[in-house]
Amino acid sequence: MKKIGVGVLGFGTVGAGVAKGLLENADVLRERTGLDISLARVADLDTTSDRGVALPAGVLVSDAMAAIHDPEVQVVVELIGGTGVAKKFVREALLAGKPVVTANKKLLAESGAELFALAAEKGADLFFGASVGGGIPVIRSVRDGLAAARIDTIYGILNGTCNYILTEMERAGRPFDEVLAAAQKLGFAEADPTLDVDGFDTLHKAAILAALAHGFQPDVHNLPVQGIRGVVGPEDIALAGELGYRVKLLAVVKNAADGLELRVAPTLVPASGMLGSVSGVFNAAMVHSDMDDWTMYYGRGAGRLPTACTVIGDIADAARNLAAGTRRPVTMPRAAAAPRVKAPGEAVSKFYVRLSLKDAPGSLAAAAGAFAACGVSIASAMQHGTSGGFATVIVLTHEARRAAVDDALAKIAAAGVSGSAPACFGIEEP
Ligand code: HSE
Repeated sequence: MKKIGVGVLGFGTVGAGVAKGLLENADVLRERTGLDISLARVADLDTTSDRGVALPAGVLVSDAMAAIHDPEVQVVVELIGGTGVAKKFVREALLAGKPVVTANKKLLAESGAELFALAAEKGADLFFGASVGGGIPVIRSVRDGLAAARIDTIYGILNGTCNYILTEMERAGRPFDEVLAAAQKLGFAEADPTLDVDGFDTLHKAAILAALAHGFQPDVHNLPVQGIRGVVGPEDIALAGELGYRVKLLAVVKNAADGLELRVAPTLVPASGMLGSVSGVFNAAMVHSDMDDWTMYYGRGAGRLPTACTVIGDIADAARNLAAGTRRPVTMPRAAAAPRVKAPGEAVSKFYVRLSLKDAPGSLAAAAGAFAACGVSIASAMQHGTSGGFATVIVLTHEARRAAVDDALAKIAAAGVSGSAPACFGIEEP
């Protein structure tokens, strides 16, 4: 049986999971691949901490460069994260013609096109299955299962931290800060939660899905991103609930003849639908295509063994290709022409708007007039309590352009009829 040695860079949570999976499930992997895929090296600067995995003698080393160039290592697995040394090591492995497996969403979202070009030049594979959805094989499903399908829409709940916080805010009716602090205590949220709660982690994953579906590298630094911190409060979660919706931090990748919508924002989805039912730390992606209608991928978006499972799936692919002397065609850029990415104002959907209006004659008429003047059609409006002389009014719109809704909100502000700032969220109903 052909032996393929694996070098894992980074002995953190996922690295330890990959080591454990390769060691403890080696028999399953052998049976399924017909190859002896074995852990040759694990490189980490910290070679003393206990990660709960007993590595065979000589496997753990501190020098990643030496591990990459070790003749026993044929597949390099980057699990360091970030875009500093991780990028250097991925480039080094590809330059050496070795296939690379990575779970690094930020690296791929920012430098995917460059790294795929290098992989193509050097004839090496670059796999990234665990970069989106952790333990959910969504990349593999979109890449292989939908290989012949034209994908038009992807919705993703792609950050477990945010989904956990939103779920807890709804369940307990508590504000963001309290729930975040509790989640940090329980280890469900990072000490610095910026990447998660401000939407960037979801944006990186959305960009990778868009790249996979549409064959180009979006410019992640110029895409609209809104997280949940300072944006979603218990009031809107409760009001949305009364209307049959849940608030989710949603990645939207929608393609049409006039361009591609690509954004991350808190969004209302039907509470009883498939996306609305994704709660706690779970992730999901819903994909619509011309051949396969809607498909949905659901599971654990993070965690040691789930993410390691997806990484090992990629290692198996890389090993099979090495054994067969073949490689995967480059994933991106692939399209002859990149789709036009629409400006944020061009996004079209229904909207939920919460207004605080003076409880006086003419306020509601002024607000309704502003929507009318901007060409936004109101589907329903309801007054929901009054306090301190201001009424909370919820407006649901028919489909409208985001720019038109923003113009209407600016007109309402200028009309001098409002109290506190409005809230405005898109509604998506797959
Ligand atoms: N921090 C991410 C999450 C997992 O909370 O889902 C890694 O992308």
